[in-house]
Amino acid sequence: MTVSLSTTIGNFTFDNCFMNAAGVHCYSKEELLDIYQSNAGSFVTKTATLEPREGNPLPRYADTSLGSINSMGLPNLGLDYYLTFLEELEQSSTTKPTFLSLTGLSSQETHQLLNIVNQSSFQGLIELNLSCPNVPGKPQVAYDFETTNHLLAEVFTYFTKPLGIKLPPYFDIVHFDQAAAIFNQYPLVFVNCINSIGNGLVIEDESVLIRPKHGFGGLGGQYVKPTALANVHAFYQRLNPSIQIIGTGGVINGRDAFEHILCGASMVQIGTTLHKEGIPAFQRLSQELREIMVQKGYESIDDFRGELKYFA
Ligand code: SIN
Repeated sequence: MTVSLSTTIGNFTFDNCFMNAAGVHCYSKEELLDIYQSNAGSFVTKTATLEPREGNPLPRYADTSLGSINSMGLPNLGLDYYLTFLEELEQSSTTKPTFLSLTGLSSQETHQLLNIVNQSSFQGLIELNLSCPNVPGKPQVAYDFETTNHLLAEVFTYFTKPLGIKLPPYFDIVHFDQAAAIFNQYPLVFVNCINSIGNGLVIEDESVLIRPKHGFGGLGGQYVKPTALANVHAFYQRLNPSIQIIGTGGVINGRDAFEHILCGASMVQIGTTLHKEGIPAFQRLSQELREIMVQKGYESIDDFRGELKYFA
């Protein structure tokens, strides 16, 4: 039986449904090329701001037995670095469409970034990060529905390239309803659920594990899978079918990826596991997902995407 992990987001086709999550193995050109040359279907860059940023003081990331905690604070090399790299990559190779992640530290900066990308020759997808929990004094935009709605309304007056948004986890059914009602008004190509669960606290002996914000940081890995699955499925149930879902959070093995797709994800991003295991994670996860599909008789991910079963 031939099993394919290929998928589509908008008008883009990917040979493999796995890719990195923004923030992991995507800071430099070298790291991005590692993913590009692996069997991952695509990569997304570290979230870019207008100017390069050093981010929060070290230590700012820690692996734990159940996942990870981080408060990176958006360290990145600036939009120009990533955009130039992507434009050059597209000139030398067109084998994989790619994602550029970006966010402004203000609405004005977000518009500035998107205008630059709109005028560039970049042909891939853009992920607007509305959910970084780690910049002191800057709340996660997507928890403020009025600001989010206003921002998207302004963006779509001028932005013409394929755009999606990276969301924080929501925890209330009313919030799923309210958020989806906003997103459905716009020609978004995808939503990515979820960013880390913001501002957790992990303690070892008597101390926090990371320096910024007295140890508060975003949780990833096993801690977050049920929340990630709930967000993927809640938006799959509510969004216009033209807005696809990228599932991110708690993917340790092929079964986790299978569950994300069952909940409605068209593509699956790997964060903590990629950080812990490196590039070979893509090969292992692809193999494990293929084995599950063979056992169940599914030839493509479309055969079971969104087909989560409920009690009668
Ligand atoms: C960070 O750089 O702090 C992580 C980015 C994010 O969670 O969006």
